[in-house]
Amino acid sequence: MRRILIDADTGIDDSIAILYALTSPNLRVEGITTCFGNSSAAQSTDNCLRLIRLSNCGYEVPVVTGAEHTLDGAIETAPVHIHGENGIGNVILPESSQKPLDMDAADFIIRKAEELDGELIIVTTGRLTNLAEALQKDPALPKKVKRVVTMGGCMEAPGNVTPVAEANIYGDARAADIVFRAGFHMILVGLDVTAKTFITEKDLDGAERYCSEKSRGAVAYIREALKLYFEFHRLTQGMVHRSFVHDPLALLIAEDASLGEYKMLRAGVEYQAPAFRGMILTDNRFQSELDHDEIAVCVRVDSDKAIRRLFSVFH
Ligand code: BDR
Ligand code: CA
Repeated sequence: MRRILIDADTGIDDSIAILYALTSPNLRVEGITTCFGNSSAAQSTDNCLRLIRLSNCGYEVPVVTGAEHTLDGAIETAPVHIHGENGIGNVILPESSQKPLDMDAADFIIRKAEELDGELIIVTTGRLTNLAEALQKDPALPKKVKRVVTMGGCMEAPGNVTPVAEANIYGDARAADIVFRAGFHMILVGLDVTAKTFITEKDLDGAERYCSEKSRGAVAYIREALKLYFEFHRLTQGMVHRSFVHDPLALLIAEDASLGEYKMLRAGVEYQAPAFRGMILTDNRFQSELDHDEIAVCVRVDSDKAIRRLFSVFH
C-alpha cells in the first residue's frame, strides 16, 4: 500500500487521477492540497470534496486549499474551453458535506511528511507552488518523504503552452525550479509520455460495461467530463474521440514505477528569460553514479498497460 498526498489543480484529467487514487486498493490518499491552474484553488478544493463523495472510498481524505497565485503573485488560470467553467468539464457533481481543513497547504504537506516518517509519496498534478512553499518553510522536506512524482514538463516533445514549456511547469516556473533543485527523489512524468498515452471512447465503453456498482457514478462522471476534454483535443490536435492522459499517468507511475523507463538527469527550470519560461534545463556534465540530486525523467511508458490498469480499478 502506497501512502500518497495529491497536490492538484483539479481539472478534468486531475479528477480522473484523483478518482483512480481513491479507488485503487494499492493507494491510500492521505490528503489533497489544491492549487490555482485549471481553475482557482478554491474551485479545485470544491471539486475534490465532491469527487471524494463520488468515489465511495470509505475513508476520510482531508483537503486543504493552497496557492491562488504563483510564488511571485501572478494569477493565471487555464482558458475555460479546456476544463470548463468549474474545472471539471461543467459537470455538476452532488455537493459534499465535508469541509476543507482550515490550514496552510504547505504546513499540511510538512505535517503529513513528518507523520508518515519517510513513507509519504507526493504526487503533483498542477503547479509546484505549494511544494515550493513547503520547501521554503522546511528545506529538510526532501529527506522526509519517499518520493515526489510530478506530472509536468517536456524534454523532446513540444510544449503545450509555448514550444518549449508545459503548463504545470510554465504556470509557476520559479516554484518548479526550486522543487527540481531541492534534492527530492523525483520522477517527472511529462508530455514525452503523457502525450503518447490516450483514453478513447472505446475505453469508456469498456469501463461502463464492466464497472462495479460502487464505481458506476465515478465512471459515468468520467465519461461526461471527458466530452469537453475530447472536444478540446479535437480542436487543438485533430484527435477524434480521444484525449491525452496527463495526470492519471503520474498516479499510475506513483503506484507502480515499473510502468515506465527513466533517464536520470540533473535539471532546473528557466524562469527569467520570457521566451524560455518553463523550459527544463539539464546539466549533461553530471554523472549519475557519482552525483546526487538527479531527477528520473520518464522517457517511455507502457501505455496499453497503463490504460488497462487505469480502468481496472473501477471493475
Ligand atoms: C497539465 O496541464 C493541465 O491542464 C492538466 O491538468 C495537466 O496537469 C498538462 O500539461
Ligand atoms: Ca492538472
